Amino acid sequence: MAADDQRTPRSTSDGSMTLHSERFGQTYHSRHGALTESLHVFLDAGWSERLSSLESGAPIRVLELGLGTGLNALLTRKAHADLPGGDRPALRYEALEPHPLQPAEWQAMSLSQWSEVDGDVELHAQPEAECHEVEWAPDARFVRHRMEWQTFASDRDRRAAFDLIYFDAFAPDSQPELWLPERFAEAFRLLSSGGILVTYCAKGAVRRALIDAGFRVERLPGPPGKREMLRATRPAWEDMTLKRFNVRVYFFLLDRPLIDGGRPDPESQVLLSDEFLSGRDCTKLPGGGLEFGEGPMDCAHREALEELGQAIELGPLVHVTGNFVRSAWRGEEQVLCHYYLATLPDPANFRVAEARFDYPGEDLESFRWTPLRSLAESELTFGVDHAALAALRGRIG
Ligand SMILES: C[S@@+](CC[C@H](N)C(=O)[O-])C[C@H]1O[C@@H](n2cnc3c(N)ncnc32)[C@H](O)[C@@H]1O
Repeated sequence: MAADDQRTPRSTSDGSMTLHSERFGQTYHSRHGALTESLHVFLDAGWSERLSSLESGAPIRVLELGLGTGLNALLTRKAHADLPGGDRPALRYEALEPHPLQPAEWQAMSLSQWSEVDGDVELHAQPEAECHEVEWAPDARFVRHRMEWQTFASDRDRRAAFDLIYFDAFAPDSQPELWLPERFAEAFRLLSSGGILVTYCAKGAVRRALIDAGFRVERLPGPPGKREMLRATRPAWEDMTLKRFNVRVYFFLLDRPLIDGGRPDPESQVLLSDEFLSGRDCTKLPGGGLEFGEGPMDCAHREALEELGQAIELGPLVHVTGNFVRSAWRGEEQVLCHYYLATLPDPANFRVAEARFDYPGEDLESFRWTPLRSLAESELTFGVDHAALAALRGRIG
């Protein structure tokens, strides 16, 4: 290991351990108590607060800037495991760490011993891997990306993908690039409606950058040794001003010809699209957004070619969204969806998955047929699709 990468264990005032990094000239936690700081800033002000405002049935998706020793991750794992079973939200914890610890480093920390949580072995396994995943429990998953925030956050597919951000970068004087206004604009985009960012840092410039990015910012009492910390909340979608329409076109693709050219055969199967969107598995219909210069039917044809790789034959329009619907990803957009019936003029030659969310490799989208008769609303993730399914049922021949 190069001398400037040297990381040495240090004990802190509450008896818990941290590391000192030569490269960054910083310790990973406050010397006034690593455990106390993590519990105060990230678990109490972040995790508990976000849980209290989470929609029932929704997962909680946490993003950590800087996995470091894994203390925040393990404490969150424990907090989740301690929630009463049954209706606890599923947890997805994603941590970014461009400089993962080596075994000798995390072993010297005895993390599980003083944080009352086992799991540091699996947490820090495969330090060289680009992406390391661990199933903490059937409803809790951990993912470590060997990646910098700047790269991760620039991926537009991660818009609104997180409910909570632990912003735990080294201090601004050591890593100023992680505290620039751009970082907080990115954090704003990454968070979902009502999403929360917490950080131990309470500098005026950071607070102003958070406000400029659109956050509502609270100054809270800090952990020992710090007067204040910051909690920033992304306004809930319903508090945002609508600015745009988002016109979408979907199709119920059936595997049997339409009866009398317009009604679905009740024995048909319908094609569903499973996609990993903004941090969660979703089931929807094939289709997408209308582009300028297209009519809704052109859009359906183009989407079929792009998504399935083959042409479809369009049947009648089955449904157009009647009620007001706000976008699930962008609070400032109002969504209006069209749903057509469709069939395949040629035999299907796209990949069909046997099970839900059975993604082929890197591509996080897969298709599967399901019997139209037994397709329930609850299988479709978005409420906007439920009315369309009801309208389709009304047409069954
Ligand atoms: C203050 S420490 C995090 C402590 C950690 N949360 C814990 O519980 O031990 C900051 C971490 O950010 C990581 N880091 C440095 N540059 C980064 C970047 N550009 N993106 C994400 N993480 C980065 C460092 O390697 C370090 O592990």
